Amino acid sequence: MELGRSKTRCQRLILAGLTLCALFVTRPSSAIDIRANTEVIVENGTTGVLHCSFKSNQVVSSATSVTWSFQSSHSDNKFSKDSYTILYFVGGKAFPGQEEFKERISFIGDINKRDVSIQLSPVQFSDNGTYFCDVKNPPDVEGTRARTELRVVLREAFPQKNTALIVGSVIGVVVLLVLIGVAACVVARVVRSRHDYEGCRSLDSVSSSQAPPPRKKLESSASEASRGAVRRGPYR
Ligand SMILES: *[C@@H]1O[C@H](CO)[C@@H](O)[C@H](O)[C@H]1NC(C)=O
Ligand SMILES: *[C@@H]1O[C@H](CO)[C@@H](O)[C@H](O)[C@H]1NC(C)=O
Repeated sequence: MELGRSKTRCQRLILAGLTLCALFVTRPSSAIDIRANTEVIVENGTTGVLHCSFKSNQVVSSATSVTWSFQSSHSDNKFSKDSYTILYFVGGKAFPGQEEFKERISFIGDINKRDVSIQLSPVQFSDNGTYFCDVKNPPDVEGTRARTELRVVLREAFPQKNTALIVGSVIGVVVLLVLIGVAACVVARVVRSRHDYEGCRSLDSVSSSQAPPPRKKLESSASEASRGAVRRGPYR
């Protein structure tokens, strides 16, 4: 009875383990996993890097190929209807396509490290749109191509203005803090000097006409002693 129960439990455990193994082992091998940045922002006239990498449990060989294609986001662009191949990589060699990209596109990845990134230099406003990265690593050929939205922004509008704004506000805040500090010092000085001379004098004159004020004097000398400036010696 006891033996039978543990036996079925053991069988269940083995079954569960096998199922888990099957899930983890067969899943990645069924497809090639291609990854790219969702969005890349580049200023016109600079170099834009489009990163892409893949995971495959088959070895990388000379048959491994990469296809980069582009679809423009501008409806009047000739590449807006569909995605067009702009670079094909196979056998360790890159083959740029499309006249508009030929001179500006280069493969900067390392296929053995499963990095298939490219760069565009210089980036133009007409490059704004969607880039697709597709990899075939035979016999691992199934997989969804990765996509990156390239946003080309005006060079002047992007960093300089922002930097100027940030630097300007930091300087403004510092100046404001210094001014507040100076004002606080001045106010504190005025208040203190009034208290020390006018305030105390008037207090003295008031108290001299009434009862002698030993506690008041003691207090003020104590507070002055704590400040390190003892001027009322006799009451110490
Ligand atoms: C970026 O585009 C603007 C507007 O077309 C142009 O004036 C500027 O020269 C361009 N910058 C570069 C570096 O190409
Ligand atoms: C650039 O392309 C993105 C999509 O990739 C789009 O959302 C954006 O409006 C485009 N910018 C311009 C100025 O056309």
